Amino acid sequence: MSSVPTEHQDTQSPAAFWAPFTPMRQFRKQAMMFASADGMYYTTTDGRRILDAMAGLWCVNAGHNQPKIVEAIREAARRLDFVSSFKMSHPHAIEMAERLIDIAPEGMSQVFFTNSGSEAVDTALKVARAYHQARGDSRRTKFIGRAKGYHGMGFGGLSVSGLGRQKRDFGPLLGEVSHLPLPYDASMRFSAGQPAAGAHYADALSQLLDVQDPSTVAAVIVEPVTGSGGVYPPPVGYLQKLSEICKRHGVLLIFDEVITGFGRLGASFAAQALGVTPDIMTTAKGLTNGAVPMGGVIVSGAVHEAFMRGPENVPELMHGYTYSAHPLACAAGLATIALHQELGINEQAAAVAPDWQAAALALQGTKHVVDVRAIGLLCAVDLVARPDAAGARGTEVAAWCFEHGVLVRASGDTIVISPPLVISKAQIAQVFQTLRDALLNTH
Ligand SMILES: Cc1ncc(COP(=O)(O)O)c(C=O)c1O
Repeated sequence: MSSVPTEHQDTQSPAAFWAPFTPMRQFRKQAMMFASADGMYYTTTDGRRILDAMAGLWCVNAGHNQPKIVEAIREAARRLDFVSSFKMSHPHAIEMAERLIDIAPEGMSQVFFTNSGSEAVDTALKVARAYHQARGDSRRTKFIGRAKGYHGMGFGGLSVSGLGRQKRDFGPLLGEVSHLPLPYDASMRFSAGQPAAGAHYADALSQLLDVQDPSTVAAVIVEPVTGSGGVYPPPVGYLQKLSEICKRHGVLLIFDEVITGFGRLGASFAAQALGVTPDIMTTAKGLTNGAVPMGGVIVSGAVHEAFMRGPENVPELMHGYTYSAHPLACAAGLATIALHQELGINEQAAAVAPDWQAAALALQGTKHVVDVRAIGLLCAVDLVARPDAAGARGTEVAAWCFEHGVLVRASGDTIVISPPLVISKAQIAQVFQTLRDALLNTH
């Protein structure tokens, strides 16, 4: 996305900085720079207030710089800067795991902390393979992902990803991975919530298992609602069917809830909002309101139990990170969970979701728009690509919105929007009015 030049550029060159997923030569000429944030807004380094309709990067669900989260981090930094989680811990780590299990779906019973969604996904995949090993079923090593799935940038997550362009430069990846089709077709265009028809797309899992030999498959991993790949809600009954098929064949079901957790669909996790509990779930982003990096893998009691059978003096999982359950992250996470409960953020999200979805769907018929999908406080607007310049229109529309005070994200020619859940009805109207104006003002 291009943007306005910043004052900082006169004094600060971003020459040494290499940013993720960013065309660096453009960025070095014209960087988008933020100085501070508060509630629903960012302030740029040149003093412009920008309505953040992306919750940062799908993560600041309670709004920016929440004073209680900021204070909890400060206090934690003063008290205990660091302690390893290898064979030791600290009270906030234990409490954080307990609070997470309190808000997780019934049957989930342990949490393994990581520092990002990518680490959570790779950890979940390793837990799935190790679970089968622990049960003496060492043939189960294969994974099944889904088209358009995004699971972070580790080699494991990239292998199960369904976004081919992101794999191009990094092969070979894990070899034993196949993919389900996206449960989507033209009949689902311009839909709010879960499409009523389409559960049959889960039958593809039975076929894939037949092809792979089900006794060799460790796990199926899906985002309950496809996020970065373009916000595709699951049809009614689809996830239930996936779960039944997995159970029938002894295959673990992993939900990657890095985006869908922490109120995005009006409940703590999509598993609760959509009524399907997996065996393993990942979380990150909203877990600490984006304030300190943290991720987690939440497992069912049955999965955890399988690991607890060997000799007691040997680690049951040969895996972990220096910063697992970092004191600052745990403090931020505890404050986030408390704030969600105190402010009723999940309920707020559920209450404004109908307005959000109606405002999104009202874009139907606007110039360039070929599809809109919305669920919870998520939305994707597909634009028709310019024949000779895929992605250019999306980039320009997002840049226009930024220049007119609203941050949205272009993923190719799809505009994705995912605001803090504390967004007001007036701000919802502003987001979609700005997007409409952007569409009308770009060729
Ligand atoms: C579903 C999903 N999984 C994993 C990740 C990776 O998380 P991170 O960027 O924190 O590594 C993301 C990031 O957007 C995500 O959306």
